[in-house]
Amino acid sequence: MKEDQAGLIARRDVLKVAFGLWGVLCAAPVLGMILQYITPVAAKAGLRQTTLVGQSGDFAQGTVRIVRVNKDPVLLIHTPGGQFRALSARCTHLGCVVQYQETPVPHFGCNCHGSQFDMNGINISGPAPRPLPPYQVILNGSSVYLTRV
Ligand code: FES
Repeated sequence: MKEDQAGLIARRDVLKVAFGLWGVLCAAPVLGMILQYITPVAAKAGLRQTTLVGQSGDFAQGTVRIVRVNKDPVLLIHTPGGQFRALSARCTHLGCVVQYQETPVPHFGCNCHGSQFDMNGINISGPAPRPLPPYQVILNGSSVYLTRV
């Protein structure tokens, strides 16, 4: 009789441990999603990849060059006033690479279906549904880094 009770208690303990582990395994993904939801966007931004694209002297003032961030083409704009700005060079219509065009007014044009974007990346004509996404330019000394916004 005592052996039966001891065996029953041992089985109950095993079941308690098994259900406890099962509960932890079920709760872990939910806790992960909650943590991801409440993590501030600024903290996530710190995890974004930053890419060195060159030295500031490599980009003359008043010019636009296409550089690569990973495999993505990015328009690096060095304004006549000496400021750097960057926009994705992927057309927001179907993803062709846009080109800088000086005439009749400076803008970015897509040769695939004729979309045009102003120098701020705003879509001004053609089928492109959205502006060109911006990149953040980070100057560290003379080094120029880009990161996705
Ligand atoms: S891909 Fe640029 S307009 Fe269609």
